[in-house]
Amino acid sequence: MKILSIETSCDETAIAILECAGNETDARFTVLGNTLLSQVALHAEYGGVFPALAKREHAKNLVPLLEAALEEAELLREDTRSIPEEIRSEIAAILSREHSLAEAFFEFVSECETPPIDVIAVTAGPGLEPALWVGINFAKALALLWQKPLVAVNHMEGHVMAALAEKGDEESLLIRGVQMPVIALLISGGHTELVLMKKWLDYELIGQTRDDAVGEAFDKVARMLDLPYPGGPEISRLAEQVRTSDVLVSELGHPMSKITLPRPMIDSLTCDFSFAGLKTAVLYLLKNRPPLDDTEKMHLAHEFEDAVTDVLWKKTARALEETGARTLVIGGGVSANTHIRRTFTHKIAADYPQVALRIPAASLTTDNAIMIALAGYYRALRREFATDITADGNRSLA
Ligand code: KG4
Ligand code: ZN
Repeated sequence: MKILSIETSCDETAIAILECAGNETDARFTVLGNTLLSQVALHAEYGGVFPALAKREHAKNLVPLLEAALEEAELLREDTRSIPEEIRSEIAAILSREHSLAEAFFEFVSECETPPIDVIAVTAGPGLEPALWVGINFAKALALLWQKPLVAVNHMEGHVMAALAEKGDEESLLIRGVQMPVIALLISGGHTELVLMKKWLDYELIGQTRDDAVGEAFDKVARMLDLPYPGGPEISRLAEQVRTSDVLVSELGHPMSKITLPRPMIDSLTCDFSFAGLKTAVLYLLKNRPPLDDTEKMHLAHEFEDAVTDVLWKKTARALEETGARTLVIGGGVSANTHIRRTFTHKIAADYPQVALRIPAASLTTDNAIMIALAGYYRALRREFATDITADGNRSLA
C-alpha cells in the first residue's frame, strides 16, 4: 500500500510517500519520497510560532513539496488532463479560503496523471487549527480529484509510531517485536504526557502536565536567556558544553554552578507533571541582576536540563512500575535532546533491564511526514477511512 502523507500541524510543512506492508505486529515501510520545509527561521523573529504566518507558509509550500515528493518517488507522470467542471467547483469550494493554494493546485494537477498511491493520510490534530486546516483541505482536494481514500492522523500517534520504528536495510523502517504494554513519554512543544498502550492503538492517559509542556518550558527559559527560538536545541547545546568540559562542574567554582532549581511534583504520588514553577524559578533568579554572561548561561542551562530530566525520568519510572510495561518509547520534538536520550538509555539499562527502550532516529524526532504515514498505515489497516475531516487543535490520543 502506497501512502501519501501530509503534515502541517505546526511550523513544518511536510509531505512523504511510503510503501507500506505487513500487519500491526510486523510492518515494513520504504520511504519513497520525503520532503520538508521548516519555517523555524521565519518564526524565530516572533520568538515563537505565529499562526497566521504558519498558515500562509503551508499554503505556499504544499504544491512544491507534493511535486518534489512525487518526483523523488518516481511517481510523477506529466500529462494534460481536463478536470470535470463539477469536481473543479467542488475543489474550488474546499480551497476557497486559500486562493493562491487553489491556483497552484489546479495548475499542478492539470499537468500530471493521477499517481499510483492508495491512501492519503493527513494530520488532523493536535496542533494549530489554522495550520491544520490548510493540510486537511489540501488532502481533501487531492482525494477528491484522484479518488483516493483519506485517513485522519493524530499527530501524537505519529510520534509514537516514529519512536517504535527501527531502521531496516537501506531506506526501510520496521515496526516489529513490540512487547505490550507500551508506555509512551510524549514530549513536545505542546505536549507532555505519559500514555499507556496495552493493545495496538488503544491508549490510556497515565499522566500529563498540569501547566506548561516541557518543550514550552525549554523555549521560554531560552527566551529569558536571550537565546533564539526554538530554545530547546540552544539550551541543550549550552548544557552539553558543561557536561563535556574536562573540568568537573563543582570544580569550576562558578557561583551559577551551585544553583539548584526546583523539580516540581517530583515526589507527588501521580504521573502528572508541572513545569510552570521551574520556569518561574528561572525568572526570579534572573530578576534584578545584570544579564548573564555566556558561562553563567551555560551553568543555568545545565541545571535547568538536569531538573527537567530528573522529573521526566522519575515520572516515567513511576509509570513503568505502575503498569508493568515491557516497552518504553519517547517521542516528540524534545526527544531529540541528547541528555534526555542518554539518561533514559542508562537508567533503563541499569534499573529496568526487562524494558525495551525505543527512541526515534534523530531525523524522526521533530515533526515530519514520515511519522504521519506510519500512523496512517495503522489506521488504514483498520479501514478507518474518513469521509470528512475536521481540524481539532486538542485532539487527544486517549
Ligand atoms: O514535536 P515538535 O517538533 O513540535 C510539536 O509538536 O510541538 O517539538 C518542538 C519542541 C520545541 O519546543 C523545541 O524547543 C523542542 O521540541 N526541542 C528540543 C530539542 N529539539 C527540539 N528540546 C530540547 N532539546 C532539544 N534538543
Ligand atoms: Zn510534534
